Amino acid sequence: APRDRSGVWRFRELLPFDEDAPIITLTEGNTPLYDAPRAARFCGLERLELKHQGCNPTGSFKDTGMTVAITQAVRLGARTAICASTGNTAASLAAYAARAGLGCAILVPRGQISLAKLAQTLDYGALVFEVEGNFDDCMRLIQELAAEETVYVVNSINPFRLEGQKTVAIELLEQLDWQVPDHVVLPGGNLGNSSALGKGFFELLALGLIARVPRISVVQAEGAAPFARLFARSQTDERVELVPIAAPQTLATAIKIGAPVSWKKALEVVRRTGGQVISVSEREIAEAKAIIGRDGIGCEPASAAAVAGIKRLVETGFIARASSVIAVLTGHFLKDSDYAINYHRGTLRAPGDKELEGAHRNLPIPVP
Ligand code: F0G
Repeated sequence: APRDRSGVWRFRELLPFDEDAPIITLTEGNTPLYDAPRAARFCGLERLELKHQGCNPTGSFKDTGMTVAITQAVRLGARTAICASTGNTAASLAAYAARAGLGCAILVPRGQISLAKLAQTLDYGALVFEVEGNFDDCMRLIQELAAEETVYVVNSINPFRLEGQKTVAIELLEQLDWQVPDHVVLPGGNLGNSSALGKGFFELLALGLIARVPRISVVQAEGAAPFARLFARSQTDERVELVPIAAPQTLATAIKIGAPVSWKKALEVVRRTGGQVISVSEREIAEAKAIIGRDGIGCEPASAAAVAGIKRLVETGFIARASSVIAVLTGHFLKDSDYAINYHRGTLRAPGDKELEGAHRNLPIPVP
C-alpha cells in the first residue's frame, strides 16, 4: 500500500490521523544515511554520517512535512494552499498540491531564490508571486492572507508540517539500529525543521523507545543568524526575545531569513537537548559543501552549513573527536548548481566578501 512505502506514513501510529484516512503521498522519506569519511576528516572527527533529506521526491526535507500538511488540507476541504518560501517549500507545496488537485499560490522574494527551485515550482503548476522584498516580507504577507477561510497555510507555523518532518528522527534511529547518536546537527532558517526533529526525539523518549536524546545543534549563515545571536544572549538572559535581522545576507538562499517564526520551539529543543546554535561564514559553507561533494554525495549550500558547523564545534571542543555525529543534509545538490559552478570557477563571492574568490584552490583536502 502507498502508506507502507512512504517513509512518513509507515509511522502513522505517531501521526494525528485515523488509520484509513486518505493520504496524499509521493513516496517521501526513506532517505539514505551515508558514511562520509572525507567530510569526517575535514571536521576532525573519526566518523561522520550524513542523513540526506535531499533524496526526497522534490529534492528537500520539505516533502516529509508537506505530505501531512496537504493530507490535512484536503481533509479540511481547503481550496487553495499557500506559503512563503525561499524555494524548497515552494517546490514541495506545488508538487503535493498538484497531486491532490488543490490550487496553490506561493510568495517568493524576487531574484533571491535558486532558479532550479523556481523552475520546479512552475512546472508543478503553482501560481507564483515574486515579491519585492525578502523572505520575511513574504512571510508577513502570508500571515495576513491566512485569515481567508478557503486558504490553508503550509509554512512551518502549520503544526501538521512538523508532524511529518518529525519522522526523520525515527527513520534515523532505525538506520542506527536504535543507537542514539551523541549529536545531530542541522541548518536553521525559519526553524521549523529543528523544532520537528526535537519533537520526534522527545516523543520516542516519552514512549520509552530510547533512553536519551541526542544533542541537537543548529547552524546559521553569519549574515542571517538571528537565532545564533539569540542563543548567545540566552546564556545570560532566561527570557530572551528574537531580534529580527532586517536585511539578511547569504549565498545559501534557502536560509536567508531574518525573522524565523519557529524560534521559540527551536530554542526549547536546543536547550532541552543541550545543543548549541552557531553561525558560520560564507567561506566555511563553501568549503564544507565542496568537501561533501568529494565524498560523492553533494548537497545545496544551506545543507553544507551543518557540516561547516560541525567542524567549528569540534574545534571548540563541544563535539568530541570520537563521538557519533549526524549532519542532516536538507537539500539536493541540483537545487543550486549555479553556486557550485561559481565556486569551482573561482568566482563565488558573498556580499562584501572578496575572500571567496578562488576558494576552491585552497581546499583542505587536496585533489589526489
Ligand atoms: N535547508 C534547506 C535546503 C531549506 O530549504 C531550509 C528552509 C532550511 C535548511 C532551513 O529549515 O526553515 O525549517 O529552519 N527552507 C524554507 C523554504 C524556508 O521556504 O524552502 P527551517
